Amino acid sequence: MKGTAVARANIAFIKYWGNLNDDLRLPMNGSISMTLDRLRTVTTVEFSPALAEDEIEVDGEEPSPAAKARIVAHLDRLRTLAGKPLKAQVVSVNDFPTGVGLASSASGFAALTLAAAAALEMELEDRELSLLARLGSGSATRSIWGGYVEWVAGAKHEDSFASQIAPPEHWEICDCIALVSTEAKEVASSEGHKLAQSSPLYSARLSQVREDLDRVREAILIRDFESLGSVAERETLSLHAIMMTSQPSLLYWTPATVRVMKEVRNWREEGRSVYFTIDAGPNVHLLTLPPYVGEIERALGEVEGVKQVIVCRPGQGARLIEEHLF
Ligand code: DP6
Repeated sequence: MKGTAVARANIAFIKYWGNLNDDLRLPMNGSISMTLDRLRTVTTVEFSPALAEDEIEVDGEEPSPAAKARIVAHLDRLRTLAGKPLKAQVVSVNDFPTGVGLASSASGFAALTLAAAAALEMELEDRELSLLARLGSGSATRSIWGGYVEWVAGAKHEDSFASQIAPPEHWEICDCIALVSTEAKEVASSEGHKLAQSSPLYSARLSQVREDLDRVREAILIRDFESLGSVAERETLSLHAIMMTSQPSLLYWTPATVRVMKEVRNWREEGRSVYFTIDAGPNVHLLTLPPYVGEIERALGEVEGVKQVIVCRPGQGARLIEEHLF
């Protein structure tokens, strides 16, 4: 009763922020993302009658009590559904820094869902995997799929899942991630979602998002980079306006975040196709096309406060693999 899965993080062009139902992670709005090839999580899960407790290791360490409780709650959902009340051993490895706004919960819960479902011998379609992954982490619902992905909000559990807009080969958008911090963020996104509706700007954001979803989906289908980038950049500013005006206020940016944002606008003035987007953290994702990647990577390396640049391209969805971690 053992399964191993690999799943990748994703970067949202239209972002998930705020829940209709926190327990079910039913979002207030739909979202669209690109799965990222280089931000991978590999997870092995084994269920066994010999275990008295769940044993969990992430990146060689026991997770914090809160992180562990979240993983155990997810295992509980899956073993209840499968009708197999066995404890599990879980070993998970990320090949990128976790807790810095690089969406490790997306790849983590997508990999955990697929590996645990395989170990429990559940035969699930991708749609069901996407629904279940959502209960672990909202953005994980999109990481089940590769390439360009849309999560339709839905008003009840069965209706809130993601599907693929286009496969990775459809279009080579590059995401140059400027890491300006590798520290754990102060407020986790799960907490942020609960504050969203305290912002007086939130209803304006929701009506804008509905239009933006159509624009971004269309831009992906016809490969219109300027349309995609300009909507994504304004969309992330709208997200951060909500964060900043929530009560209490969330401010994820650092001076280096703003320096990178300003540079992106300068580089665009100079004729490069590049736009920024930022999740619940200080790091900046620069969306661009292959001809600009080399020079943007170099230029980013010279911006004060940028510690590392990770270049990602569209990646595959979650998959089972043969090599177990233990
Ligand atoms: C800003 O999926 O991390 O990255 O469901 O509580 O795990 P939980 O939240 P999470 O929220 C993602 C927030 C975001 C936007 C996005 O990826 O859509």
